[in-house]
Amino acid sequence: MFPQERMRRIRYHAGVRDLVRENRLAPEQLIQPLFVDENIDQRRSVPSLPGQCALPPDQVLRECREIEASGCRAVLLFGIPKRKDPLGKGAYDDEGVVQRAVRSIKKGCGLAIITDLCLCEYTDHGHCGVMVDEEVDNDATLGLYARIAVSQARAGADMVAPSGMMDGQVAAIRQALDQQGQSRVGIMAYSAKFCSCFYGPFRDLAGSRPSHGDRRSHQIDPANGRQALREMELDVEEGADMLMVKPALPYLDVIKEASNRFEMPLCAFQVSGEYAMVMAAAERGWIDRDAAIMESLISIRRAGADCIVTYFAKEAARLLEGK
Ligand code: PBG
Ligand code: ZN
Repeated sequence: MFPQERMRRIRYHAGVRDLVRENRLAPEQLIQPLFVDENIDQRRSVPSLPGQCALPPDQVLRECREIEASGCRAVLLFGIPKRKDPLGKGAYDDEGVVQRAVRSIKKGCGLAIITDLCLCEYTDHGHCGVMVDEEVDNDATLGLYARIAVSQARAGADMVAPSGMMDGQVAAIRQALDQQGQSRVGIMAYSAKFCSCFYGPFRDLAGSRPSHGDRRSHQIDPANGRQALREMELDVEEGADMLMVKPALPYLDVIKEASNRFEMPLCAFQVSGEYAMVMAAAERGWIDRDAAIMESLISIRRAGADCIVTYFAKEAARLLEGK
């Protein structure tokens, strides 16, 4: 006890502080989300996601090269198609926006490409699946997810990331990929995806706000931690290769518990609303932006995430590398 015991002895010298640092953050642990939009020929942005853009297809490769130069090794790709329809056909079109972007990125740089796999950016109603009687029909949606997975894999995706929270989606996708000779393609499962208000800015940029209703019938109620763990357990059994918790900062308890429980790579998604909060406060001079970026990211690592999807990826990587 004090005065013999003094915690400050391991904090005086910067070198000692580094020695006892329990968690680290490296650029290769960060995944940059990227939006490609078929309808534009110049970058498009929205006020709620300052500094992030939807890119025209011919600018995606250049952006990816910048991301690679920052030290990051992976992107998470979202697409905004020319046409939307009730079945989201653009999502499983081999000439679709994401498929074409994947092919062009693969040709020109070495980043790992993870493709978001959902229907909400492709359906005219903005829901993540097929609508039957005003409801998202789980089982009717699975066949479409399987088709999206195979199409994205054929284009060259290294991993697919199903984000629609349909029951059985991981098993359906794994089976389809294996049957179509795509067994090397992994599944990063958005397993513990909460029904969160923090997706708002994303929906502004991606144009994926549901035209009516909400996503409470399939995304997890923010009050439920145990249920989130059960979702993850099911995805492990269904054949996921990586698990994800989303959003990140409001759900650090879930990340912690998942990292203790599952012998699996764990990813956390610092979502658009988390990004927007930091950017808005920093813009007013109320917080130090770079410090807030680093503190939030190391906190997510401390909770147990191996890697983090974050809109700050490229910038954080540059900060870490002193570029
Ligand atoms: C699509 C999807 C969403 C996000 C990732 N994939 C939005 C949603 O579920 O409405 C959110 C990402 C973010 O907010 O950064 N299902
Ligand atoms: Zn969706």
